[in-house]
Amino acid sequence: MTTNILVVGAGAIGAFYASRLHQPDNGVLVSVVCRSNYDVVQKDGFTMETRSFGEYSFRPANVFRSPENAKSSKMQWDYIIVATKALPDHSDDSAMLEGLVTPTTSIVLIQNGVGIEEPYAKRFPQSCVISTVTVTSAAQVSQGHIKQHRWTRLEVGAYLAPSNSTSTSTSNSSSSAPTLPPAHEFATKKLVEIMHQGGIKDAEYWDPVEMQLVRWHKLGINAAFNPSAVLCGGMGNADMLRDPELRTHITGVMREIVHAGTALHGRAMPEKLATIEAILKSTERNAGAKPSMLLDWESGKAMELEVILGNAVRMAATKGVEMPRCQSMYALLRSQSRLREEKKKSKL
Ligand SMILES: NC(=O)c1ccc[n+]([C@@H]2O[C@H](COP(=O)([O-])OP(=O)(O)OC[C@H]3O[C@@H](n4cnc5c(N)ncnc54)[C@H](OP(=O)(O)O)[C@@H]3O)[C@@H](O)[C@H]2O)c1
Repeated sequence: MTTNILVVGAGAIGAFYASRLHQPDNGVLVSVVCRSNYDVVQKDGFTMETRSFGEYSFRPANVFRSPENAKSSKMQWDYIIVATKALPDHSDDSAMLEGLVTPTTSIVLIQNGVGIEEPYAKRFPQSCVISTVTVTSAAQVSQGHIKQHRWTRLEVGAYLAPSNSTSTSTSNSSSSAPTLPPAHEFATKKLVEIMHQGGIKDAEYWDPVEMQLVRWHKLGINAAFNPSAVLCGGMGNADMLRDPELRTHITGVMREIVHAGTALHGRAMPEKLATIEAILKSTERNAGAKPSMLLDWESGKAMELEVILGNAVRMAATKGVEMPRCQSMYALLRSQSRLREEKKKSKL
């Protein structure tokens, strides 16, 4: 039986994973919804220049111009992968999936930030929402030309809305796994298996609580480096760490996030995740890398501010946990971003 996968948002990350999941010989067919790269991809497919798998071309099973276009195909999707930038202050991307999701469709989010699953879980309460976090570094260097710089790792776990994610244990322990419908667990594990078959050997399955901790752990990196890079005037990650004051600030943000994430979920970070010290050490070696938020800011694009800072601060506040470093960065960047938008509008 064929597994049909639709990727909505076939940019750097969406196209990279789409190209690994597309396995016609194994009965897995991947289609994509493109936007500005539609004409190129429709004509020639994607050109993949990857560090992990070499150079190859990838022709999706179908290339759609829009979600509406995909709807009119009347195809049934086993998985719909959303790999747009998560910008809830600009658009509710869950709305794009109306008419595409059936009760057996799993919705997979490959995006940074926290609190990104909620709009999908609310709109499609019966569906399996799979939360994933990637450390892959990739860019679309020109329309349809994807460059993967390094890493492939993908952490994968089903999402349980907070009301469902209380412990099933009758004891007061908060460490037992929440209830996950067997069909959702099956769909999540099957996705990991297809990733492995496609060469993403380090794709890993996590239970729903662990997955949220993994997400907060990744947030520790994104929220520490991305906003700081913009606020400090445009430095790359390794350069920021060479400045003692910035290093203290970045370390403080990471500690704040680990504290908030573990307080929210009542569990310590999984042991195999890198410590803050290890993250700082490996970042020191990654000279020249500019965080995506800085690149977005420099090119006048919207930043993933709400999911990287705003949601974290708000979610922590529901448990009485304060995040003063993150809140300050959020307030400053939100204002900076708003002022720039107003200036742009006044010039029109
Ligand atoms: N790139 C990385 O190395 C990396 C690493 C880890 C995590 N991430 C995370 O992965 C997510 C995706 O990032 P990315 O770097 O892949 O972004 P990207 O290259 O900008 O790709 C996003 C794609 O989504 C498309 N899109 C946006 N809205 C759409 C819509 N309404 N309909 C159809 N297509 C739409 C964009 O089209 P347009 O080109 O027309 O805007 C673009 O092709 C983000 O949350 C990011 O933080 C990225």
